[in-house]
Amino acid sequence: MKKLIKKILIIRRLLDFMNATRYFNKKYFQILKWTFSSREDTNFTYDLTDKNNLELLKIIESCVEVPFEKLQKYLNEILNDDQLKIYLKKKTEESEFKSFADRNISFSRRVGWYVIVRSIKPKIIMETGVDKGLGAVVLCSAILKNKEEGFPGKYYGTDINDQAGYLLDDKYKSVGKIIYGDSIISLKNFEKTIDIFINDSDHSGNYEYQEYLTIKNKLSTKAIILGDNSHATDKLLKFSIENERNFILFREEPKDHWYPGAGIGISFPNKK
Ligand SMILES: C[S@@+](CC[C@H](N)C(=O)[O-])C[C@H]1O[C@@H](n2cnc3c(N)ncnc32)[C@H](O)[C@@H]1O
Repeated sequence: MKKLIKKILIIRRLLDFMNATRYFNKKYFQILKWTFSSREDTNFTYDLTDKNNLELLKIIESCVEVPFEKLQKYLNEILNDDQLKIYLKKKTEESEFKSFADRNISFSRRVGWYVIVRSIKPKIIMETGVDKGLGAVVLCSAILKNKEEGFPGKYYGTDINDQAGYLLDDKYKSVGKIIYGDSIISLKNFEKTIDIFINDSDHSGNYEYQEYLTIKNKLSTKAIILGDNSHATDKLLKFSIENERNFILFREEPKDHWYPGAGIGISFPNKK
């Protein structure tokens, strides 16, 4: 009987249609839940699945010279940093923009940024595009931990919006500074050598590429570039090929969220 039904094309395609929708129906349920439980309208936050966290660590392991167990320790450090979460909750509730931020604190792919900073102990980090400052605080908390271990560092963030960065305060601000204005101009004027560069400002491919060209001669020999746009454009990949750098893309798998996930493009010096 089943075989007979499958022979009638229109019925078979209807069954195929229903089969295909199974991949997306859960998303509609998540969208509905999110509509009533979240306050975010952009720059969404969520946790990564456990499997995805391990994938992230294995990818980072191939970019840095740090054993896997240590990378796991760094990941647990940020995931279980209750002091940081309490701080972020408080800053969010005090902010005039609180109706655009969630009460639940999740870091999404920024946990990967944290693990990389803890691993390579950079002296100078530059992040373009600060927004609320969630990435900034995550990065500064890694710098503070490095400092306790005898490796001081400093975070710089750029943003065109003069209200960006309200989360960056208290002890986190002691190692971080925001430079307001257009990123390319700020990068051109920046005179320090950069150990970690994070692109997360204007997400047009052309602007992203211009940022890489602007910082090219300001990078230290072991510098790592993290592209927050690399799941959407080929610019960091292209820059890496042109400059004989390695490139790996990590893709997010958000836990219980409708957003399909962004990624981290990791460009690092060729060991050859
Ligand atoms: C995706 S958000 C950054 C998110 C942030 N990195 C984080 O971890 O949450 C992008 C930010 O880039 C800023 N931006 C957009 N165009 C810019 C430009 N030309 N120069 C500097 N900042 C820019 C926006 O104001 C916005 O705050």
